[in-house]
Amino acid sequence: MTPFSDFDSMDWVDNYDSVVESDSGLFFRYSDILQAVSEVACPSPGLKVLDIGAGTGNLSYLCLARGASVVGLDPSERMLSQARARARSLSANRVERGGVGSEAQAHRSGVEFHVASDPFLKIPYPDSAFDAVVSTYAFHHIPHELQPESVREMVRVLRPGGVWAMGDVMFENAVAEAEARRTYEWLDGDEYYSRIDSLRSAFSQSGMVLHARQFTPVSWVLWASEAAWGRKPQ
Ligand SMILES: C[S@@+](CC[C@H](N)C(=O)[O-])C[C@H]1O[C@@H](n2cnc3c(N)ncnc32)[C@H](O)[C@@H]1O
Repeated sequence: MTPFSDFDSMDWVDNYDSVVESDSGLFFRYSDILQAVSEVACPSPGLKVLDIGAGTGNLSYLCLARGASVVGLDPSERMLSQARARARSLSANRVERGGVGSEAQAHRSGVEFHVASDPFLKIPYPDSAFDAVVSTYAFHHIPHELQPESVREMVRVLRPGGVWAMGDVMFENAVAEAEARRTYEWLDGDEYYSRIDSLRSAFSQSGMVLHARQFTPVSWVLWASEAAWGRKPQ
């Protein structure tokens, strides 16, 4: 199994959402980045979307709001329990408005969350199961040497013509990463921030074209699709 960052053992996990809402450091422009990923992955309602490393579900719920049916996978039960609590409160709001309201309704409303031990490398779904595969701020837990294998696994579950989209801290290449690490001391020495040149080559080997848009000096949104299907985030 891929070594994973064990969020279940971290003190600050129950405050995760207030950390990302700080909109600073690693999480500068967090909301804009998640919004861009959801827009490029879910241009129309009715799509089936896989969110890997879903955490507290912030990206999953943006895709849900765009009419998608979303499955979120994550190794951390504590992160997912926060995501599920939001599904329950969505259901409860519907009860107040006269709806049915239950876990089952949360499922019907199009979002479900499952613990998965290695969801970037062993996705528990068949080939072509999803219209879009998305992820934010989680892929940096995958060691660089395993990232090409993960790209193949994510493309495997994407239907032909489907879209992959990701937002995270990353760099154009190893030289740019070294420069950024000298400039921004708060970059985490234990994380495997992606290098866009390596991902471009991994997607190309899977017949996909990778596009990139920089949001901050250290954060990017990437998206990939077969050449004819490329879309730009707004
Ligand atoms: C910084 S949080 C990001 C959560 C959410 N995607 C967001 O944008 O707010 C990183 C998430 O990655 C998960 N994670 C850690 N190791 C992982 C791995 N090897 N594969 C998939 N997810 C992993 C953690 O449990 C955590 O929920």
